[in-house]
Amino acid sequence: MKIALPKGRVADEVLNIFQKIFNEKFEFESRKLILKKAGFTFYNVRNWDVATYVENGAVDIGVVGYDVISELNSDVYEILDLGIGKCRVSVAGIKGDNSYKNKTKLVVASKLANIAKGYFDKKGVAVSIIKLNGSIELAPLVGLSDLIVDIVETGTTLKENGLEDKEVILHSSVRVIANKNSFIQKRDEILNLIEKIKEVYGA
Ligand code: PRP
Repeated sequence: MKIALPKGRVADEVLNIFQKIFNEKFEFESRKLILKKAGFTFYNVRNWDVATYVENGAVDIGVVGYDVISELNSDVYEILDLGIGKCRVSVAGIKGDNSYKNKTKLVVASKLANIAKGYFDKKGVAVSIIKLNGSIELAPLVGLSDLIVDIVETGTTLKENGLEDKEVILHSSVRVIANKNSFIQKRDEILNLIEKIKEVYGA
């Protein structure tokens, strides 16, 4: 079975779970992107690419945040919530400033452009989205946007930059996702693995 893991903390945590299940060491060697062990092949990919590998069938399953699946609108099955990497996607703006409510069209900066657009469209609010790649919190501070849509984990970044949540769009956590064909063809194998993960992890 082929599994895509997002580089970093989540990959380490998932490999730890496998270590407990199989009582063997699961670890990517220095710069290697592929790890083969106990009938599994793990691929070390960027967080934003996990769902792409799964959706296109390059791997059977992947581990990724719900925020990413939502933004990409990935056509995959979500099969388990690991309950780690909890965060929310919020509309945020300058603390105490609610003048955005009187505007006929809002300018919103975000890395999550599709989530942001979808949210305001649904509310019937005219919006222009400015796509940024990071440090989103800067946008309203320099007058680039009225608001931002961004990931809030501890809330420290908002607080330290004089911003606050205005509205929460969605709550996210790390999910195990499966390719739709793989889930049909390897259903028992996948479900068996999920059961083992639940046993050791209590997810
Ligand atoms: C994310 C997110 C916020 C911050 C939230 O950014 O975009 O900026 O973390 O975390 P907090 O609520 O715990 O402060 P990231 O660290 O991924 O960097 P980025 O600005 O490059 O997106």
